[in-house]
Amino acid sequence: MRFIDACNRRPVDKTPVWFMRQAGRSLPEYRRLRESNDILQAIKNPEIAYEITMQPVRRHKVDAAILFSDIIVPLAALDPTMTIVPGKGPVISKPFRSSSDLSRLRQLEPTEDIPYVIETVKELAKSPVPLIGFAGAPFTLASYLIEGGPSRDHRNTKALMAQDPVLFEKLLDILAGITLTFLKTQIDAGAQAIQLFDSWVGTLSEYHYRKHILRTTQAILGAIEVPTIHYSLGTSHLLSAIVETQPSVLSLDWRVPLLRTRSDFGDRFAIQGNLDPTILLAPSQIINKEVNRTLEEAGTAPGYIFNLGHGVLPETDPQVLTNIVEWVHEYGLSGDSLSGDSLSGESSSPVPSGCSDGS
Ligand code: CP3
Repeated sequence: MRFIDACNRRPVDKTPVWFMRQAGRSLPEYRRLRESNDILQAIKNPEIAYEITMQPVRRHKVDAAILFSDIIVPLAALDPTMTIVPGKGPVISKPFRSSSDLSRLRQLEPTEDIPYVIETVKELAKSPVPLIGFAGAPFTLASYLIEGGPSRDHRNTKALMAQDPVLFEKLLDILAGITLTFLKTQIDAGAQAIQLFDSWVGTLSEYHYRKHILRTTQAILGAIEVPTIHYSLGTSHLLSAIVETQPSVLSLDWRVPLLRTRSDFGDRFAIQGNLDPTILLAPSQIINKEVNRTLEEAGTAPGYIFNLGHGVLPETDPQVLTNIVEWVHEYGLSGDSLSGDSLSGESSSPVPSGCSDGS
C-alpha cells in the first residue's frame, strides 16, 4: 500500500495523495446525504458514515480514506451539550473555566460511548484502501472546551494555562486519556494509520509548548503501534519541539518550506503537505504551478505524501481534487523539473488534461 509505505519512508511506485476534509461539503453527494441529518447524527449512523468516508475514495481515487467523524465526537459522547454549529464549528453551552468543571469529564468507555465508531471502522477496514483514524490533540480539544466555541486568539485557554497551570495540566491529562482511547479504539477496529490534529497549538510560544504540550503528545504518539501523522497549523516556530514528539509523519502547512523541512528532517520523518487550500479556488494554471512547485520541493526521496496544508474549503470544485490526484500520481516521482517558472524562470509545465480552463 503506497500510503502506508510512504508513512514508513519506504519506496513507492507513485506519490500517495489524500486531502484533509476530503469527506465533506465540497462533494454534492455528501450534501445530499447530509440534507436530513445533522453532522453528529450522520457520524453516529454507521451506514451513512461509511458511505461519506468512501465517497471521495471512489470519486478522486485518493490513496487513503479518512474516517468520517470529528475531533469533538468523544467529547460530545461525554457531554451532550457539545454540538457542531453549521458554518461555525464545535460549540459547548457551558465552557470549562474552573476545577469544578473537571467532574463533567471522565474517561471514554468505547463500547458504550462510541459503538458507532467501532462499527463504521470495522466495515471500512474491509475496503482495500488504507483507513486513517484520527483524534484531536489535548490542547486543541481543550481550546473548544474552554472557549466554548471556535476562537481566533484562544484568550481564555491561554489565560487559564497561565493563571492555573495545575488545573490546566489536569484537564490536558484527562483529555490525553480520552484521545488515546479514541485512537486505540479506531486502531483495534482496523484503522491502519492515525492522524493527531493539534490544529490550534500554533497559538503557543515554544516555551509554553515545551512546558505544557510536548510530553503529553510524546506519550500519546509513543503508545501507538501503527504509523502516526502529527498535524498542526502555523507552527514554523514550534517545529524543533514538535519533531521531539516522534511521529512517523509530520504534516505541514504552506507556511513551512517543504524543501528545507525535507532536507532538515527527511531522514527521520516522512513529510505530508503542504499546498495552501485557498490556491484550489484560483484558475487552473495557478493550481498547476503550485502543485508542481510542491512536488518539486518534495523531491523524489522516499517518505512523502501529497496533501493540503489544511482542510479542503467547501467552495472547492471537486473536479480540481480529482485532477490533482491524477497529476500527482503521474508526475510525483518523475524527478523532472515540473515547473520551471515556480522555482526559476518561465513556465514550461504542461496543463494536465482535466485541469485546463473550462473543463
Ligand atoms: O477529513 C475528513 O474528511 C474527515 C472528517 C473530519 C471532519 N472534521 C468532519 C467535519 C475531520 C478529520 C475533522 C477534523 C476536525 N474537526 C478538526 C481538525 C482539522 C482542522 O480543520 O484543523 C477540527 C479543528 C474540527 C472541529 C470542527 N468541526 C470545525 C472547526 C468545523 C468547521 C465548521 C464548518 O462548518 O466548517 C467542524 C465541522 C465539520 N467537521 C464539518 C465536517 C465535514 C463541516 C460541517 C458540515 O458538513 O456540516
